[in-house]
Amino acid sequence: MSNDEYPTENPAVVTAGLPYANGDLHVGHLRSYTAADALNRALNAIGQQSAYVCGSDMHGTPVAVNSWQQGVDPEEFALEWHEQYEETFPEFDIEFDNYGHTHDGTNTELTRDIVRTLEDEGYVYEKTIEVAWDPEEDQALPDRYVEGTCPYCGEQARGDECDEGCGRHLEPGEIEDPVSTLTGNPAEYRKREHKFFEVSALAEYLTEFLDGLEGTDNAQNQPRQWIEEGLQDWCITRDLDWGIDYPGDAAETDNLVLYVWVDAPIEYVASTKQYSERVGADTYDWEAVWKDGDGDGVSASDASGGSPDERRESGGEIIHVIGRDIIQHHTIFWPAMLQVAGYNAPRAVCATGFITINGKGLSTSRNRAIWAKEYLDEGLHPDLLRYYLTTNGGLQQDIDFSWEKFADRVNGELVDTLGNFLYRGLLFAHRNYEGRPDVAVSEEVEDRIEEALDDFREAVNEYDVRGIGTAPVDLARFGNEYIQRNEPWNLVNDDPDAAAQVIRDCVQLAKAIAVLAEPVLPGKAEAIWAQLAEDGSVHDAELSAALDAPPESFDEPTEPFAKIEDERVAELDAKLADRIESTASDDEEDADEGTAAADADEGTDTADDDAVPDVEPIVADRISFEEFQELDLRVGRILSAEPIEGADELVRLEVDIGVEARQIVAGLQQLHDVDALPDTKVIVVANLEKAELFGEESNGMVLAAGEQADLLTTHEDAEPGTRVR
Ligand code: MF3
Ligand code: ZN
Repeated sequence: MSNDEYPTENPAVVTAGLPYANGDLHVGHLRSYTAADALNRALNAIGQQSAYVCGSDMHGTPVAVNSWQQGVDPEEFALEWHEQYEETFPEFDIEFDNYGHTHDGTNTELTRDIVRTLEDEGYVYEKTIEVAWDPEEDQALPDRYVEGTCPYCGEQARGDECDEGCGRHLEPGEIEDPVSTLTGNPAEYRKREHKFFEVSALAEYLTEFLDGLEGTDNAQNQPRQWIEEGLQDWCITRDLDWGIDYPGDAAETDNLVLYVWVDAPIEYVASTKQYSERVGADTYDWEAVWKDGDGDGVSASDASGGSPDERRESGGEIIHVIGRDIIQHHTIFWPAMLQVAGYNAPRAVCATGFITINGKGLSTSRNRAIWAKEYLDEGLHPDLLRYYLTTNGGLQQDIDFSWEKFADRVNGELVDTLGNFLYRGLLFAHRNYEGRPDVAVSEEVEDRIEEALDDFREAVNEYDVRGIGTAPVDLARFGNEYIQRNEPWNLVNDDPDAAAQVIRDCVQLAKAIAVLAEPVLPGKAEAIWAQLAEDGSVHDAELSAALDAPPESFDEPTEPFAKIEDERVAELDAKLADRIESTASDDEEDADEGTAAADADEGTDTADDDAVPDVEPIVADRISFEEFQELDLRVGRILSAEPIEGADELVRLEVDIGVEARQIVAGLQQLHDVDALPDTKVIVVANLEKAELFGEESNGMVLAAGEQADLLTTHEDAEPGTRVR
């Protein structure tokens, strides 16, 4: 890369963090995909050759754990999600030039190749380490198979990341008080041989790399601190059977796969390569982006392998857009791999903030999210959400989503400002001149458009996606003021030339707005383009088209945006609240029955805030006393309790309910000391229909409160069998 202003001579690639192929897409994902999409479109608009690539992240425990929970083969499971993502992204006009996946041949080959180079260059060594082990399942517990306490900040953490605390990557064996997520048992440690990438040797290179890195500040500041604290080498293998096999056929690596974070970012390269192969290297050359040309790796004796600046000059402009939870992977591990393998360094890393929903953390397991499909099913135009997500604040800032705030921005900026100007100006033009009046644009308006184009170019150069998105709205604001100031309706009769001038200016402003709106509002921009009877597509227009005269005649315009009314907001709000509420009550049932909903992974761009306590509102519909009486609730006493093999939460209880002893299956294993359960008095729903859980009959239900399954009991000496009323 160069540090020249965009557009540069080199091809650029914009990437967005790969979504784990393990669950539905939601606003948290959409935020970085729309930001990166807008950035790529804006780069193209200012004349920068640029491609936008991505792919599904198929490997690792985020996929293995979820597919296992559903009893599906991981490959089949991941491919299904992959196909769904491939369909969903275009519906939001997120237009990847290539969308691959990490399990395909291109990525598998390239990954093995790069790892071999790391070995050949002397940066990989073997070490025996202690890995978490589940004695009951007799298997290793990599990454998300284990939870515990972060050794750095003391928060609850996953095996390989402190997702709720300091955000650090954790190495195998680092997590404290590890507990198996398979069985809920405390994990043991076993000695295993693993492969390590010597990241510590690259501290100097990485410091220099960070000095030249562009993008958001958070992506430079955090890694600087980590480097100062001292870099650790990085374990690049896992005891897992889902992933890319460690290359080579040495017996000791037989059962090892590569850590998912090795092959995932390589998909950025693989996906670019696929694009290049599809369109031909003459059109877009992936090697010009990712390789210096000589393709040589760096020798071990020369860890810095040329300064980052030297290495950039001939390469392309690599721009990564990610969520801020994966900064370490993109600013330490990834550039270290690229450097040793002889690839070019990224020019920019842009890390977005998180999204909250109505002030609370987005949580897929609580259904507190705005789902991509659901949004579209509401019939809302994708551009509205694109606009909201890209312009609500700077990239680094967190966004609090609420339907009310969403509607306010849509109504104030898109309807009242942008839509209003376009409709007023073009309607006036159509009615009085059947299109564009035949005069030249005034100097004032030409200057104003040029200023807008400059602002836009500057925003692109600063990776200021919000600035890119608000540029057309600012210009429309000027347009409204311009009409207001000149009152063309008063001029038409008295001074027709002056009126024609004002309207000619408005038509030019409308065209400039279409060009500037394309990155963030691609669908609407194309509609404005067509309204102006322009040829071709606004997607191919360069910025300079904003000053070219539009065709002379066009049809009567329609209003480009519709207001979101208060009632609609209330309705959307109520739906969201209902959904969250019904998930919470399902969860409680599930917890009672021991099938607590598995927490789908959140993906790149969200902080899942399951720690926030949540008091559910009371259900609005009352039931009668008779209906309540239909519940046969009994005092019971637990006679015996044993965990159920293969089900990580379930316990088989024998409960004395006076008339008989019942077998009841309950989800208590992770929350209670199972051995301490016998003799505990509980409340049992005795007339609940029988169910079968993990092949075990459950004849009734034990009542418990909340996520922690706090068991209901009695305080005096009510005997088993006593009815609860
Ligand atoms: N799937 C990862 C996540 O959701 C992101 C992978 S990005 C890449 O956190 F760099 F590995 F590609
Ligand atoms: Zn931590």
